[in-house]
Amino acid sequence: MIIGIPCESYPGERRVALVPAIIPNLTKAGLEVVIESGAGAQAGYLDDEYSAKGGRILRERAEVFRAADIVVQVLCYGSNDRTGQADLPHFRPNQTLVGFLRPFGARETLHEIAACGVTTFSVELMPRTTRAQSMDALSSMATLAGYKAAVLAADTLPRIFPMLTTAAGTITPGRVLIIGVGVAGLQAIATARRLGAVVSAYDVRPAAKEQVLSLGARFVELPIEAKDAQDARGYATAQGEEFYRKQRELLGDAVAANDIVITAAVVPGKKSPVLVTKEMVARMVPGSVIVDLAAERGGNCELTRGGETIVDHGVTIIGQFNLASTVPYHASQMYARNLTAFLLNLVKDGNLQFNEGDEIHRETLLTRNGEIVNARVREYLGLPELAAESKGA
Ligand SMILES: NC(=O)c1ccc[n+]([C@@H]2O[C@H](COP(=O)([O-])OP(=O)(O)OC[C@H]3O[C@@H](n4cnc5c(N)ncnc54)[C@H](O)[C@@H]3O)[C@@H](O)[C@H]2O)c1
Repeated sequence: MIIGIPCESYPGERRVALVPAIIPNLTKAGLEVVIESGAGAQAGYLDDEYSAKGGRILRERAEVFRAADIVVQVLCYGSNDRTGQADLPHFRPNQTLVGFLRPFGARETLHEIAACGVTTFSVELMPRTTRAQSMDALSSMATLAGYKAAVLAADTLPRIFPMLTTAAGTITPGRVLIIGVGVAGLQAIATARRLGAVVSAYDVRPAAKEQVLSLGARFVELPIEAKDAQDARGYATAQGEEFYRKQRELLGDAVAANDIVITAAVVPGKKSPVLVTKEMVARMVPGSVIVDLAAERGGNCELTRGGETIVDHGVTIIGQFNLASTVPYHASQMYARNLTAFLLNLVKDGNLQFNEGDEIHRETLLTRNGEIVNARVREYLGLPELAAESKGA
């Protein structure tokens, strides 16, 4: 079987789906790898390095799609809503696509992908089990986004993070508040702490408290309790507007007391809750910084403008998308390892062997034989359950 890696086409995307060092793991399993020339260049991986590890460089994008049995991408059509559609004519039935497909995104887009007949596996749907942990690309990218959010905030703030006692006087440490302590939030805490800030954090899931404390940050307790805050997969559940209103009221003082607020509070498949209002921003000290990691999903701050950095009331609000792509070398390395673990689980004796009994296969499979087959996604789209025979191999 041939694995194909086209160049990423989303404007500004710098990652690549596979890195040279991982190719021997795939060739050992009987897979051949073809790469579009220049696919890794922006992440720091050159054509020669791919060739040296056994990859075959192809000049044309179309050639990669023609040659590949399995196409692997970072942003496939779905998550690439700008240029991804242009890839659709390249796909054919009996071909497989693996990558970020935004399974809880636009209905029309999902139907268009399904209609190509290509079998797709969406990395966002990876189950949260110990066995699937090495394949969890969402967590890898969230880790990097959390790191980058803290670094961006430190770079933007007109103050420094660490406390300094010098002959020129004492400098008090920067104060950072993290709202939403999932994978990204935890890495933001760790990074801000390493830079010397005093960090506090809040999350709706009570389970987050222990993790916050273990990283040396303070947990902000609010006198409200969410109903069934966490679902079986460990994700936060959506709460009613009255709950969010109370949250905003109670978070006001904590936001005003910090120089930096990093928000990363998301609920899968839903618009992100607004937790920082414009009134709360107005209470922050001028020069303060908000990095809104939920910007792509509507934003946790009322003033966030998706993909932009703005200044309001003297506060800089960063709503940049896709922060993982700004550290493309390591983002590609982590993604490539996640994908390779997934591919090696899917491919047996050099052939793709879909096993309905394996939850990793079953839960990540998005489209097949012209249909959206994933049970969670069908439920999200309001489509009827499929009969057992249409789901199978
Ligand atoms: N394989 C695994 O077992 C595995 C893999 C990844 C993550 N996890 C765990 O799952 C949990 C969620 O991680 P994630 O990064 O996917 O989360 P996520 O990206 O879905 O959400 C980010 C955070 O926002 C929080 N949030 C949502 N609404 C909120 C609100 N109104 N106020 C405050 N916070 C709010 C969530 O509780 C979550 O912690 C974490 O505990 C993480 O460690 C486990």
